[in-house]
Amino acid sequence: MKYQFESQRVSYPYFVAAMLLFAAQILFGLVIGAQYLWPDLLFPAIPFNIGRMIHINLLVVWLIFGFMGAAYSTKLALVQFWMFLVGGATAIVGYLFRWHDGREFLEQPFLIKVAIVVVVLMFIFNMIMTMIKGRRRTSISIVLLIGFLGLAVFYLFAFYKPDNMTVDKYYWWFVVHLWVEGVWELIMAAFLSFLLIKLTGIDREVAEKWLYVIVGLTFLTGVVGTGHHYYWIGTPAFWQTWGAWFSAIEVLPFAAMVAFSFKMVSKRTRQHPNRAAVLWTIGAAVLSFLGAGVWGFMHTLPQINFYTHGTQITASHGHLAFYGAYAVIVLAMASYAVPNLRKSTGIITHQKQEIFAFWTMAVSMVFIALALTGAGIVQVYLQRVIGMSYMETQGYMSLFYVIRLFFGVTFAIGLVVYLYDFFIGKSKSAA
Ligand code: HEM
Ligand code: HEM
Ligand SMILES: [Fe+2]
Repeated sequence: MKYQFESQRVSYPYFVAAMLLFAAQILFGLVIGAQYLWPDLLFPAIPFNIGRMIHINLLVVWLIFGFMGAAYSTKLALVQFWMFLVGGATAIVGYLFRWHDGREFLEQPFLIKVAIVVVVLMFIFNMIMTMIKGRRRTSISIVLLIGFLGLAVFYLFAFYKPDNMTVDKYYWWFVVHLWVEGVWELIMAAFLSFLLIKLTGIDREVAEKWLYVIVGLTFLTGVVGTGHHYYWIGTPAFWQTWGAWFSAIEVLPFAAMVAFSFKMVSKRTRQHPNRAAVLWTIGAAVLSFLGAGVWGFMHTLPQINFYTHGTQITASHGHLAFYGAYAVIVLAMASYAVPNLRKSTGIITHQKQEIFAFWTMAVSMVFIALALTGAGIVQVYLQRVIGMSYMETQGYMSLFYVIRLFFGVTFAIGLVVYLYDFFIGKSKSAA
């Protein structure tokens, strides 16, 4: 991860693809958000369930493009890029023709799943070769490698689809939970350390100590924390105790990332000219702490989850956590790396637009999460406390859905400014 000109330029197309897929994800988000208010919108071309599937699959695909772009170095990269892009695009276009395997987040048809595994293995092979050949065996690159290995290994459970629904859900969480509260967290922590070293000028040794603590806390809490998904699906009762205790302390690695960022930035030995990159970096730590740490903790104890399970409370946490942690860390890496990739080191332009985009998207996402929390509280009361049916409750929540859509639009405006800056603004001045 050095971003030195030629050899690193292969990572540029990864960021470009990530940005375009991000834009498509938000477009579909707006469509399904609007369908909450006008259920017949775009029916039968894009029914809600298909739009939702595309919205969340695009999310996963663009984040992984971003992770790869941020970690990349050599030639094999370009072959792998096209394989992943064609594979990912085929899967998503396929959904519009109802070609899918119907298991949330893992809807990719069998052949596409195989292609994804091949691409990730190529990526890991490339990473290991680079580490062996080069002098880049830093703790950061090792944590990153473990993160990607874990991403591949846990994805293998997507191939195992038991008929028994309890067993099916049990393994489904091996992918979804052990990704976002396990190995992806390592990828995020590695990027965070990399960025903080580059942006603050503080010694690598200091950052590495923090990185070890964060990695340790992630494993300690996140693995057994999987139990917070095993409260009500027919798994043994001991999960209620184990899941509660361990997932409650899952806040710790996220809190450590906040402390790490503020400490490094407050003690910085130089003022990096890319202020936007500093903002995105601190933003990732703070927003992930809010979305994953605070909003996750809110419903993680079985006494509370009994009422909130599968409601809009879950969706509010899902949005703020995914955006705050993984979208923002990818955008932070892009903000830092892209000017360098374009050989315009030193000419860091359009800081104003990027900072505007940061705040617009961050504030909008916080309000989306608050709107969904509001909807969730109403839903929990009507549906889980006084026992109304799901459909009956929805009418009482429409105000919150209007607010969600409003902030969805402001989020999209922030994104347009960001993308304009990314594709048009910077390339002009970098020429
Ligand atoms: C960046 C990290 C995280 C991300 C991206 C994330 C994302 C998500 C998503 C998308 C779901 C919904 C899954 C589904 O049913 O479709 C979910 C569920 C859940 N998350 Fe997280 N999460 C993160 C961290 C955490 C943490 C740290 C906690 C606890 C402190 C937590 C607690 C929960 C709980 C309890 C549920 C189940 C909700 C229910 O019963 O409906 N999450 N998470
Ligand atoms: C314009 C902004 C957005 C709108 C209007 C929007 C809307 C929606 C809607 C309507 C759903 C379906 C919820 C349901 O099943 O009832 C959804 C699901 C989801 N969206 Fe978004 N979204 C937006 C942005 C984002 C962003 C930026 C991310 C992450 C970076 C994201 C991540 C997710 C996830 C993880 C789910 C599944 C949540 C769950 O199962 O609980 N969305 N979104
Ligand atoms: Fe989880």
